Amino acid sequence: MAPSPRQPPGVLSGLGADILDALPLSLYVVDRDLRVVAWNRAREQGPIGKPRRRVLGRPLAQALTAEGYRQVAPILRHVFATGEAHEETSETQVGGRLYHGGRLPVAHRGKVTHVLAKYDDITERRALEMQVIASDRLAFLGQLVAGVAHEIANPLAGLAGCAEALASLALQHPEPAVRQEAESFRDLVRSEMARCERLVKSLLESARPKPGEAADVAETVRAVLRLLERHPAFARVKVVSGMPEALPPAQIDPDSLRQVVLAVAVNAGRAMKGSGTLRIRAGRTSSRLFLELADSGPGVPRAVRPHIFEPFFTTSPGEGSGLGLAIARSLLRRAGGDIVLLPPRARGARFRVELRRARKRP
Ligand SMILES: Nc1ncnc2c1ncn2[C@@H]1O[C@H](COP(=O)(O)OP(=O)(O)OP(=O)(O)O)[C@@H](O)[C@H]1O
Ligand SMILES: [Mg+2]
Repeated sequence: MAPSPRQPPGVLSGLGADILDALPLSLYVVDRDLRVVAWNRAREQGPIGKPRRRVLGRPLAQALTAEGYRQVAPILRHVFATGEAHEETSETQVGGRLYHGGRLPVAHRGKVTHVLAKYDDITERRALEMQVIASDRLAFLGQLVAGVAHEIANPLAGLAGCAEALASLALQHPEPAVRQEAESFRDLVRSEMARCERLVKSLLESARPKPGEAADVAETVRAVLRLLERHPAFARVKVVSGMPEALPPAQIDPDSLRQVVLAVAVNAGRAMKGSGTLRIRAGRTSSRLFLELADSGPGVPRAVRPHIFEPFFTTSPGEGSGLGLAIARSLLRRAGGDIVLLPPRARGARFRVELRRARKRP
């Protein structure tokens, strides 16, 4: 089919152009002079889109931003020179979205006449992948903790038995001083052993979901604040908390909610370097309750925001393990709630904890 008279020479038209428009990815094609000969519909849309009438037949340098052209031109020349496709392993972040780029040689009678540059929007796919990785890691961690706790229980019981046997031998010693010392060591072993058993039990219990429990949100917040009074991250932090009267109970076990509030509050304290203001407020809708925690720290940098709920993601590797928010989200989701980072305002970070209303009182 001949190109329409108003189109610049060499520009793709007819069915070829329609097919390119039908593709669910944004692409353009350039000739050897890096002149744009095709620019599909998807390439006209989105944050880096441009209408094709302004770019077809023109040098690519005029179609892209100066920075975009500076990056892509050497790659296109390389594809022309070598005839090898170039798939970009790194993704460019444009308008908060992720793109994966590929530049493919188009050959006619063995000679590369054009290069096709395609950009796939992989934002949603990547978000899904990250969710799968995150829940896999957490599930693995839960299994690991439960497995270790379970395995430790047996040797622990054995050790307790041995310690008791040693103590009863030593208690037959003729020297009263030795018997006394043996007794105090035995008591120490017993109390430490009991502590280990409690720890193992609570680890095994925490791996098991506890459906049907309910927590008093205001009381949980008060309990956490009492704990934080002595926490070093809260040395000079002012806490302003606004709890409405008679808030209905939330559908979550109180220990989990406490852990969530503590994780978010400690993060806030750390971000504010021990001094600033933490505002906590609670509220409700017809079926849900929410808790908002806002600090006066530096806020979460834009590049960091997508990662903060991933297990093991931390910006302070020496201090944190990067599990606080990941575990908080997993505990909440298990109870039908969630935690989100709200869009930034002038200053600080704002987290919103969402909970289901429980049917029964705690
Ligand atoms: N209030 C906040 N202000 C600024 N950044 C924050 C805030 N809360 C969390 N972050 C960012 O989110 C990251 C992840 O937080 P998370 O609680 O999961 O891990 P962590 O605090 O680094 O380690 P851990 O909680 O295991 O001790 C932090 O390293 C930090 O970069
Ligand atoms: Mg933390």
